Amino acid sequence: MMIVTTFDELRTALPLLEGRLGFVPTMGCLHEGHISLARRARVECDCVAVSIFVNPVQFGPHEDLSKYPRDLERDLHLLEDAGVDLVWTPTPEIMYPAGFQTWVEVEQMTRPLEGAQRPGHFRGVTTVVAKLFNAVQPAKAYFGQKDAQQAAVIRQMTRDLNFPIEIVVCPTVREPDGLAMSSRNVYLDADQRKAAAVLYRSLSAAKAAYEQGERDAERLRTLMKTVLASEPLAQMQYVSCADYDTLQELEQVSGKTLLSMAVFIGKTRLIDNFVLG
Ligand code: PAJ
Repeated sequence: MMIVTTFDELRTALPLLEGRLGFVPTMGCLHEGHISLARRARVECDCVAVSIFVNPVQFGPHEDLSKYPRDLERDLHLLEDAGVDLVWTPTPEIMYPAGFQTWVEVEQMTRPLEGAQRPGHFRGVTTVVAKLFNAVQPAKAYFGQKDAQQAAVIRQMTRDLNFPIEIVVCPTVREPDGLAMSSRNVYLDADQRKAAAVLYRSLSAAKAAYEQGERDAERLRTLMKTVLASEPLAQMQYVSCADYDTLQELEQVSGKTLLSMAVFIGKTRLIDNFVLG
């Protein structure tokens, strides 16, 4: 497995990878969710590249950039075991040298949900992913359904900027109690960790109601809120029942629908979602 840091090193390494290249961008502190993306790329492509970069510009001023968990050595072992060919670990100075002033921004689709709660977040995500795509030039890039809006925004950016890259969205990998795997789960203490399963229970309750014929979006939102309210350690930020493609809130569920939520467990902000239809 090759490990590179600078753009020059990356440019030297890429021609050594023959055939169709699959690419998995990450912020490290890898878990089974990330590894599932690398494994899918391993199956579908001839070579696999992974980036590890905690992208400062996608964190808000009061978010967890400085304490975001990092463990490069462990990450590299996991990626080696997953059969990854190339790991790129640029630094903030390499990605954003002094004088950096070019940004990539997707408009409508970044306004609701995560975009409404985290101003500037998606501008940071699309800027770094555009830079990563430009540098790596993969045939396919792999993202998790866990971050549903991010995947939708990147699909839109890829279309709008004509990147010749196929975006593959992979299922959310969960713990046995349903909690979606996340690098941020390490922030939870034992009680909070137990409480965090309430996101999955809340989404499951709405899905069960949908499967029994409920199509009133407000009733599905209320049901999700009620389950969240039953957990004293959980503080809801938003729940949503939105059109899967436009991310606009629905009154009636008809086509493909995204149930999603952001919930604080103590100081840790968790997100999760289910797709209906
Ligand atoms: P990060 O949070 O490290 O996630 C990297 C990729 O792993 C994303 O596509 C994310 O959706 C996926 N992922 C995370 N948890 C998952 C789970 N439980 N199951 C399946 N996939 C999961 O998302 C980012 O980094 C950054 O915003 C990035 C795209 C790298 C840009 O900086």
